[in-house]
Amino acid sequence: MTANTPTDPAREEGLSTLSAVPEPAMRTDGTVPEPVEGAHLDVGRQPDSAYDVDAEGPILTPVPDPEESTQAAANLVVVAIDGPAGSGKSSVSKASARELGFDYQDTGAAYRALAWFALASGVDPHDSAMVVGLLEGFGYAIGTDPDDYFVRVGDTDVSDAIREPRVSAAVSAIARVPEVRHYLVALFRSIIADTDRPGIVVEGRDITTVVAPDAAVRILLTADEEVRMARRSAELSGHSAEAVGEQLASRDRQDSRVVDFLNAAEGVTTIDSTHLDFDQTVSAVVELVRLRTA
Ligand code: CDP
Repeated sequence: MTANTPTDPAREEGLSTLSAVPEPAMRTDGTVPEPVEGAHLDVGRQPDSAYDVDAEGPILTPVPDPEESTQAAANLVVVAIDGPAGSGKSSVSKASARELGFDYQDTGAAYRALAWFALASGVDPHDSAMVVGLLEGFGYAIGTDPDDYFVRVGDTDVSDAIREPRVSAAVSAIARVPEVRHYLVALFRSIIADTDRPGIVVEGRDITTVVAPDAAVRILLTADEEVRMARRSAELSGHSAEAVGEQLASRDRQDSRVVDFLNAAEGVTTIDSTHLDFDQTVSAVVELVRLRTA
């Protein structure tokens, strides 16, 4: 974040906190407000819903509220980027944001931080009711300046801890809980609305479809599975390529039951980075943004 409001210490630190929506606009004590507007819950499976939760029993399916615009400022450029694990979307999104002079929001970090918090609190990530109960004390904060990225839960910096394999293994169970998604979608929108740069690059699994379907630029970043696995195991040195590959494939399988992030929704541009290097992928994103916003 570049500009701060004098009354808002969290903003001065470049923080976006869970407490950002709705009023009071910010809490800095790490407490979390009641679930907020921005997405509503529909009971039952909806064939054309963005969340295609394949599970037993009735499902609470978050769908975007058409009344709710994610672009609080009329001229705010939102760049929505979705893609599977290992597609490079985090590093590409961050570098693109830097080049464009935009903020950057990593939404996966919130799901990972909640998974970390569950493990740290001795809560079974598969126990949905207990996980939902954690939201109230989930003092989550993320840096949206691409040059000052951090993730905190309360006073603990979890930027590295949330990348540990034990957290990756737990995160899909957390991410399939409808109340969690409802809560976090509203949080993500509040962070978008708080942007004080000309734009924000937001990346995840359901940004183009649910979090910011009205974004000016919507991208699906893909790469062949083998390439994605090789990239991810290079990132996680010290772990065998085979183990990383297995975990990534398993997470993709679980995640794809909740959100379709492998096929571009209508109006979404696919960038396939299989044969592109990092700089070429960033250039493809930046050029598309410039083209669309010229
Ligand atoms: O970078 P990578 O693709 O490995 O994952 P991530 O973006 O850090 O996201 C971690 C997990 O959060 C995913 O495996 C999903 O379970 C969940 N997630 C989600 O459900 N929706 C999002 N918008 C972002 C992440």
